[in-house]
Amino acid sequence: MQKVRKAIFPVGGLGTRFLPATKAMPKEMLPVVDKPLIQYAFEEARAAGIEQFIFITGRNKNVLNNHFDHSYELQKLLSEKAKKDLLALTRDWLPEAGQIAFIRQQEALGLGHAVWCARNLIGDEPFAVLLADEMLLSKKPFLQDMVEAYQKTGASIIGVAKVPAKKTDKYGIIDVEKEEDGLIKIKGMVEKPAPDKAPSNLSIIGRYILDPEIISYLDKGRHIKGAGNEIQLTDSMSAMLATKPFYGIKFTGERYDCGSKKGFIAANIAFALARKDMRAATEQLIRRFAAKL
Ligand code: UTP
Repeated sequence: MQKVRKAIFPVGGLGTRFLPATKAMPKEMLPVVDKPLIQYAFEEARAAGIEQFIFITGRNKNVLNNHFDHSYELQKLLSEKAKKDLLALTRDWLPEAGQIAFIRQQEALGLGHAVWCARNLIGDEPFAVLLADEMLLSKKPFLQDMVEAYQKTGASIIGVAKVPAKKTDKYGIIDVEKEEDGLIKIKGMVEKPAPDKAPSNLSIIGRYILDPEIISYLDKGRHIKGAGNEIQLTDSMSAMLATKPFYGIKFTGERYDCGSKKGFIAANIAFALARKDMRAATEQLIRRFAAKL
């Protein structure tokens, strides 16, 4: 079985739901507590054994590239002041030289197009895709569960979670053939179906491990616009389903859609509560606000 060594982080979207914050800055640089969304996703991937990190970026995203580089002036200053902890926060988590690549998606045509942009770096290996604006709070990094499921099945693995039945039109939704030993055999996928057309209430949650053959499907579908007039990854996965198996595994932790303002605020509260150094202060804040309601 091939090892899952590569991960794609599509960060080329326009983030229109977060304007004006995203006018000159990528949505994935928004911080939850004190860390940008993209760093959480990067750390989740690294904890799952990923060794090569491919970012699909666009215009106005250079600040994101810089985040994964040294900041010499700042590091020199912190070093002179012997601020070891702060120095560690700027550099100790950085990937090694050569582990990281940036690809420019010149036009934000959709997630399917973003993943297709990485085709020349993927080659013939399975790869992960992580959407950094989907934040997952759990004890074990979810991508690690997915990598283990890939090692068992050798098939593409999709992370899924239950959503309210009336909200299926906001998500990619799977159709379930059967469920066995925590693995869901998928028989269909559809992007943003209306609640009365949705095959289930299990949504795709922005974590994928894909067989490299998906690239040929993305290639065929690279001019075909789907839901929201965007080139959708779900459409190519759905086409590949006719010849290659897909399995879903359920994420049972807490999930926050940081592409929306409500999800972003909720994530800040949840991640602050989950941190020892922030818990007491956050509880105090919540009580103060709750008393005013
Ligand atoms: P979203 O639809 O959540 O992001 O795409 P968006 O388009 O940036 O946000 P809104 O709807 O305008 O507010 C899901 C993920 O796919 C990436 C986004 O950056 C996000 O991580 N994406 C989307 C791309 O990389 N390229 C695209 O063309 C579209």
